[in-house]
Amino acid sequence: MTVIIAGVSGAIGGALAERYLAEQPSEPLIGLARKVENVSGRVREHPAVHLVEWQAEHPLDLVSHPEVRSLLASAQGDLSLIYAAGWLHDDTASPEKRVEDIQPDTMLQAYQVNCVGFALLVQALSPWFKGKRLSRVAAVSAKVGSIQDNRLGGWYAYRCSKAALNMLAKNLSVELPRKYAPVACVALHPGTTHSALSEPFSQSLAKLTVHEPGATADNLFNVLANLTEEDNGRFINWDGRDLPW
Ligand SMILES: NC(=O)c1ccc[n+]([C@@H]2O[C@H](COP(=O)([O-])OP(=O)(O)OC[C@H]3O[C@@H](n4cnc5c(N)ncnc54)[C@H](OP(=O)(O)O)[C@@H]3O)[C@@H](O)[C@H]2O)c1
Repeated sequence: MTVIIAGVSGAIGGALAERYLAEQPSEPLIGLARKVENVSGRVREHPAVHLVEWQAEHPLDLVSHPEVRSLLASAQGDLSLIYAAGWLHDDTASPEKRVEDIQPDTMLQAYQVNCVGFALLVQALSPWFKGKRLSRVAAVSAKVGSIQDNRLGGWYAYRCSKAALNMLAKNLSVELPRKYAPVACVALHPGTTHSALSEPFSQSLAKLTVHEPGATADNLFNVLANLTEEDNGRFINWDGRDLPW
């Protein structure tokens, strides 16, 4: 199976890459990252890994990567695209507690990284879904993007952008099988995981079960490995249960 992981420099994206490389060390893994130097050495130096610099704000440039294009074209079995990039905070912005905290730039940044980047990637890569045994298209979303499950409020930009990502996954699950069946396009909640993204909230996380990235990668790997066409259009928790949209 050929695997493409966007956000391979992140905690979850990187751990997932290591999980796939352990399971299928000779199969190609295409890793997309803003900065290749931020990808862990274990992934970066693995002979099956092909890294491409990519930013969620821009379409994927495969013109400068003919080797990746030919890998995608020659892939015979399954193809898996996993979107593990995401944005919650940076040096100047943190999740909103109340409506007065909403900032237009923060809303747009979250939407750009958490949703638009995935749309542009699927647009660039979907032609290669044709003829594959199964195309898995998985957006690493978040339970806080569930509209039905929202009881606490706050985190406006992140919640709204993940709800938008969920709609994107659902919309793609309708269109993609018409052109590229069989497809399983899903949104995944990875479970709360230690990472740079969750680090500022470690005090409130103390009350929750927090997974190490390796455990999250095992959980997501199992969910992904068991996907079939029948799962197309689901929002799936890390333990395989359905989540409400
Ligand atoms: N950790 C949790 O508890 C948790 C819970 C629910 C959902 N999630 C979701 O899980 C996914 C992975 O998060 P994580 O916990 O692994 O966080 P992380 O370690 O901070 O990883 C985030 C990844 O997104 C990339 N990224 C950020 N902005 C980007 C941009 N403009 N263009 C391209 N890539 C960009 C980062 O690249 P750089 O290395 O260049 O910064 C990094 O690879 C996210 O979608 C997150 O929302 C996480």
